[in-house]
Formats: sequence, C-alpha cells, structure tokens
Amino acid sequence: MEKKAILLVTFGTSKPEAKKAFENIEKLTRERFPDTEIRWGFTSNMIRKKLLKQGEVTYSPQMALAKLSEDGFTHVAVQSLHTINGVEFDKLQAVVTKATTHPALFSQITLGDPLLSSHVTTEQVMHHLLAEIPAERSADDAVIVMGHGTEHHFADLIYTATAAILNGIDPRAYLGTVEGYNTIDRILEKCKKDQIKKAYLIPFMSVAGDHAQNDLAGDDDDSWKSILQSEGIECSVIMKGTAEFDSIVGVWLDHLETAWNELNTAE
Ligand code: CO
Repeated sequence: MEKKAILLVTFGTSKPEAKKAFENIEKLTRERFPDTEIRWGFTSNMIRKKLLKQGEVTYSPQMALAKLSEDGFTHVAVQSLHTINGVEFDKLQAVVTKATTHPALFSQITLGDPLLSSHVTTEQVMHHLLAEIPAERSADDAVIVMGHGTEHHFADLIYTATAAILNGIDPRAYLGTVEGYNTIDRILEKCKKDQIKKAYLIPFMSVAGDHAQNDLAGDDDDSWKSILQSEGIECSVIMKGTAEFDSIVGVWLDHLETAWNELNTAE
C-alpha cells in the first residue's frame, strides 16, 4: 500500500518569537496539500541541542526519514526551506541520496529546490520582498536587505547575483550579507555614493532569528543599524523572516509541488 508524506527541512531557530515563520509555512503547506502527513527536519544540531534544553524534541533530516520509513511511508517529498543551495542544502541532498541506497528507506524520495533556484525565481522573490516595504517609503529612501552569505565561495556568488537582480529592479535597493563577500562595508560605500539619508532594513533569511535581531538590528556598535546610523543614515527595521511572507512561502511551495509531482505513485 502506498503512503505519501512531506518532510519540510529547515536550519532551525531557537528564538521563540521567530517560530511564527515555521507555523506560517506549516499552515500554507496544509492548505496546498490537504490530508497529507507533514513532518519537520532541522539541519542544525546546535539549534536542536538548544531546543532540547528548552524541552522541545526535534529530528534531524536523517532521523525524520528513518521515522517516516518505520511508520510505513513509501513515498516522500522532501522540501528544503533553505534560501540557496549552499552548505546546508548540500548536506540535505547527501541525506536524501543516502536514503535511496540499499537498503532504500522508501519506494521513492524526491527533493525540492531551495528558494533561489533560477534567475526567474530570484527576480520573483526580490519583487515579493520589495512589496513588503512600507508604502510610506519615499523615492529617495534605500532598502537594505541582509542575506546570510557563506564562506562556500561558489554558493556565495548566488548572493552577488541576487544583489545585482535586486538593484536592477530598484536602484536604491541593496543586498549585503553577514558572511561572505558582500559585507556591510560595501553596502555603506554604495549608500554614501547614492547619498542615502534613510533606509529600510529587512532580513533575507527564512526566520528573523539571531542574525536579524543582533547583526542587523542590535544596539551594539557593530550591527548594521548602528553602523548606518553612525554615518547619518536613519534606519527603520522590518523584523520579519521571509517565511512570514505568504508570497515567498508560495515560491518554496511551488518547488515542493514539483517534487511532489515527481513521486511516481498509482494516483
Ligand atoms: Co548564521
């Protein structure tokens, strides 16, 4: 007998207030795939340990897949809730591949793309993100987007491409990253060149967790907000993760639908 399930996989967060992003994804996934078993996997063991201390038991993707197999599921569509195909996505891909090797855990398992899967989706996502900037933004105001960035050099180029796409859509919108190449110094240079006086700051991560709360909007001298303000740029922060925006979750769910449709079942 065939039994199908969805496994949603995220890096995870230990910030309770950031969890509403995951609740939103789960709600929208249920709407798109009614009466379907939906489970979660967290790729960050550090986060999983923190959550365990708070009394919350979570599964790694490996554990979640083993449990699904044990529970008799035969077909699983795994959806990455990562932003790019970087280190975390690579790890997930390895786990999915391993589940297909002998003895295979399922009749079939498929994996959906992370958020930025092509120039077309990246353009869509940047339009969706800009739509979340308050309407009172004037034509002179900047939008500064904080991506994660990565020391994985190939994958970090995705952020450079995304920054170019964003700036092409809106010449006063800049995307920088916490890690990797396009750091705040480079963004600040651009703001100075364009004589920016006011900026809307928004994270570009699935949840508004530690990076958004501290590196972007924290009160320490080295937060982006403090750095920009010390240069005379007034800052207004939008403290929301991309998974709180239904339009952006929709892009992830389109990828899940592709993975779901790839499952060869009798239905
Ligand atoms: Co990080």
